Amino acid sequence: MTRAWWRDAVVYEVYVRSFADSDGDGLGDLAGIRERLPYIVDLGADAIWLTPFYPSPMRDAGYDVADYRDVDPRFGSLAEFDRLLATAHGLGLRVFVDIVPNHTSSEHPWFREALADPASPRRHWYMFRPPRPDGSPPNDWKSVFGGSAWTFDAASGDYYLHLFDSSQPDLNWRNPAVHAEFLSILRFWLDRGVDGFRIDVAHALYKDPKLRDGDQHGWDRDEVFDVWREWREVIDSYDDRSLVGEVFLYDMDRVGKYVGRTRLQQAFNFSVAKTPFDAAAFRATIRKSLEVFVRPGTSPTWVLSNHDLIRHATRYGGGERGVRRGRAATALLLALPGSPYLYQGEELGLEQSDVPPEARQDPTWFRSGEVGRDGCRTPMPWTSTAPGYGFTTGPPWLPFDAQAKTRNVEAEVASEESTLSFYRRALAARRALLPSLRREVSWPAAPDDCVVVSRATRAGRSFVAAMNAAGSARVVQLTGSAEVLLSSAERPVVDAGSVTVPPESTVWLRV
Ligand code: NOJ
Repeated sequence: MTRAWWRDAVVYEVYVRSFADSDGDGLGDLAGIRERLPYIVDLGADAIWLTPFYPSPMRDAGYDVADYRDVDPRFGSLAEFDRLLATAHGLGLRVFVDIVPNHTSSEHPWFREALADPASPRRHWYMFRPPRPDGSPPNDWKSVFGGSAWTFDAASGDYYLHLFDSSQPDLNWRNPAVHAEFLSILRFWLDRGVDGFRIDVAHALYKDPKLRDGDQHGWDRDEVFDVWREWREVIDSYDDRSLVGEVFLYDMDRVGKYVGRTRLQQAFNFSVAKTPFDAAAFRATIRKSLEVFVRPGTSPTWVLSNHDLIRHATRYGGGERGVRRGRAATALLLALPGSPYLYQGEELGLEQSDVPPEARQDPTWFRSGEVGRDGCRTPMPWTSTAPGYGFTTGPPWLPFDAQAKTRNVEAEVASEESTLSFYRRALAARRALLPSLRREVSWPAAPDDCVVVSRATRAGRSFVAAMNAAGSARVVQLTGSAEVLLSSAERPVVDAGSVTVPPESTVWLRV
């Protein structure tokens, strides 16, 4: 039996709007991605995840889908999608596409029909409810982006539910017609050859049936597992496809329920991104992740950044120190069994951009006045040349900031010390090691401010990853003589039986 490809796959998130623009409109597109696929191969990823490229009014950057079976003309066409997929496969890259089952765009024909005719069956595809007696919304639920989760439809006198923007009405998953429709959408993309789906908001399709007041929207209900079983049956009727869920919960035992042989293969582990740069905190998160996700039918995922989170170099303090810590954390996670999910630009050491208010696009900013997520979504800088930095010849949809001048692909390819060169070395070393590594992780004794993990190799040696989270060097004892395989910063000093790990860095050793 061959190993399931997704189990240890390095998945690179391509934020479609910001990766590469082939036609100069300032917005990334599928043809731009296709031209840049060799970069992702050279980086050492096994798969890409494409964020939504479907027709959309783009109120929430494409997570407001108006047609699940087409490509927005701003991003290309179905024919261009097929070319991208064929090129990716030709290069040995698998492709996940994003699917958004919790809500549609308010411009979707289903919702237009539901609004136009309250007696239409489409009405029951969504969550319309009458007001409370005083005319206020049916309950106190808040939108994730701020404000009420209900919007009034004056024509009918009902409210409709939207966990996100008012332009993203929630679907009614208690309606079997919605199930059938999504199974058919899955088949549409599976038949085109996609390798899997990244499922948006995979924990929230079912709400409390009584719609009771309370912050948590009564979501994360066991009923949703029936959907994932149905989807899994479809996936398994094809060859080798996979489902990864955006289960945005921090209770790992609960996230663990979403995965397994008859549910999703993987779920994003957001607890990792929440973990501060601290050895004890990393030990706790990693131990728990391994306990929950290392079992047949699933595998752990390691998530530091994505298009919704503050970039990890910034979370870790920003500047050279934040980047240094980010490299250390990355090297630690890459040493573990499971799938690292990388977010475009982290391999350049990009920090969160400070997007000025007049340029902001995130609905969070418009609904709540909070700064929002635009700062992690600014375009990829490919070259050192302003104003388009090789991303576009037109005006970019979000502005570049000063870091693009030095943290860009062109500059970093040219430097051995760059974050990009470090990622390439790390991913190449990981790929070479993987076939010989056992999955079990052991925890050799280590100084308090270090995280040291070890995996046996089939050749009877050990593979050790040691992260020093302290601001000064630490000595880690080893069981024998060691050879350095990788370092996230300066080269460590290896003595007989120990290694001195530089501050805020990680070293990989063969012992
Ligand atoms: C999660 C997506 O990652 C995010 O970008 C989006 O705003 C929400 N789901 C709503 O679809």
